[in-house]
Formats: sequence, structure tokens, C-alpha cells
Amino acid sequence: MAVNVNTLKKMKDESDKITWLTAYDYSFASLIDKAGVDAILVGDSLGMVMQGHATPVPVTIEDSCYHTECVARGVENALIVGDLPFGSYQLSKEQAYENAVHLMQAGAHVIKLEGGELQVETIRFLTERGIAVCAHIGLTPQSVHKLGGFKVQGRGDSAQVLIEDAKGVQAAGAFAVVLEAVPQTLAATITELLDIPTIGIGAGPSCDGQVLVLQDMIGVYPKRSPKFCKNFMQDAISIGGAIEQYIADVKSGEFPAQEHSFD
Ligand code: KIV
Repeated sequence: MAVNVNTLKKMKDESDKITWLTAYDYSFASLIDKAGVDAILVGDSLGMVMQGHATPVPVTIEDSCYHTECVARGVENALIVGDLPFGSYQLSKEQAYENAVHLMQAGAHVIKLEGGELQVETIRFLTERGIAVCAHIGLTPQSVHKLGGFKVQGRGDSAQVLIEDAKGVQAAGAFAVVLEAVPQTLAATITELLDIPTIGIGAGPSCDGQVLVLQDMIGVYPKRSPKFCKNFMQDAISIGGAIEQYIADVKSGEFPAQEHSFD
């Protein structure tokens, strides 16, 4: 059955772990969809794993729309999450609306953007106009140069900032929030505090769901993958099998393990 935002909320309420994976093309999107992943994120990580850049910063809205179109042709059931790339929504809420519409016309069901409190006005503007928004807080890769690298966020005093970010995006109408590279205890606190699902990547096992970049979880990205990734091909005989194992391990709580989490 087709997954929608209500499905994800129900899964949180029933403590049924949510699975997301990234995809950028028709064939992998189809494989991931058939394996039963709940949502496919056409992430701006495409800048790194598809285009070979060092960061997602060079990705354009045209790139995102192109890959969203390719993915959409392969998906029957999964929720398709389009990612607003760097520079496509920060200027104004009107700019965000215009580019969110482009992504949805390319086939995204919902959109994701990076930021907490600073994006509250934009999230409210989009949701009031019929666009379901997933926020992304913690390590926000589009700000990598401002953050000084791909580093864990929310340690020490900044934990409270992330808690306020999470509460702010929920109040603005976000349907979910991605927590990237944050200490597992902080992610557990945020997950407990929020009514909307938290989707973790490097945020420990307590999140309502998990997301990984496909190329990391099948071990084909030639550069070093972050500590929070696991290569599911190590014990699998096919890519489909690796994806099924990822789903099973997220559902059972086996992934992420302590070795993939931060304190
Ligand atoms: O672009 C992406 O793939 C993402 C995930 C890492 C959450 O934003």
C-alpha cells in the first residue's frame, strides 16, 4: 500500500520503526520500493555519490528535479521525499515555495529542507499551502563550510538549541524531522518530546526511523563513509538482499548499533 505522511505518524505511534533510503535513479528506486522501504529520499547527497563532489553544495534545483523524475518512474508504494538543495529555499519563503513546487511536479510527494528555528517561517508557509515538509537538523551538510566540516552537532550547550529547533519545526507543521549526527541520548530526548517521527542518521537507535545513503549501505562509495554507516553487502548475496537486511535490522533494533552511534 502506498505510504503517506499519516502512515509514518501511525508507525511512530505504534513503535513500528520507519525505514528510509536514498535513491537517485529508476532502477535502484524500483528495487528499494519493491523491498518495502517506507520512504525514498532523493537526497542532495547525489552531489557526492552521483556527481563526485566533496559536498552537496554544488547541487542545483534542476539536478534535484531530474533525479526526482527518474526515481518517481520506479516507485509504486514508497513515499518520495524531494530534497531542496543549497540556495533553492534560503532566500525567501516564496523562493522555497516555487522550488518545492518544481520538486513536486517532478514527482516528489513531500519535500525536505535543512534548518530548525531559522526555517520555521518557511515551513509554516509551505505547509499552509499544501506542501508536506520534513525538516533536517543536527549536521546539515549544506552548511558544511560554516560548520567547519562534517561534525557531530548538539554536544554540550548546543543540545538545547537542537531541542528548540525540533520543537519549532513541529509547531510550524513539519511532518517529520531528520536528525543527523547527533548524540544518541539527545536524539532519544527529541524523539520522546515530539509527536512527529524522527528519522535518524548517526543519531542512535531510539529514533522513530532510520535513513542511509544507498551507496554507503551497499559499500560502493569510493571515499570514506561516515562511522554511522554500515555496509549491508558484507553478509548479502544481492543488493536486494542487503536492502531487505537493512529493513529487518532497523525493525528489530539491531541497526544502528553502538558502533554506529555517537555519545
Ligand atoms: O541528502 C541526503 O541524502 C540526506 C540524508 C543524509 C539524510 O539529506
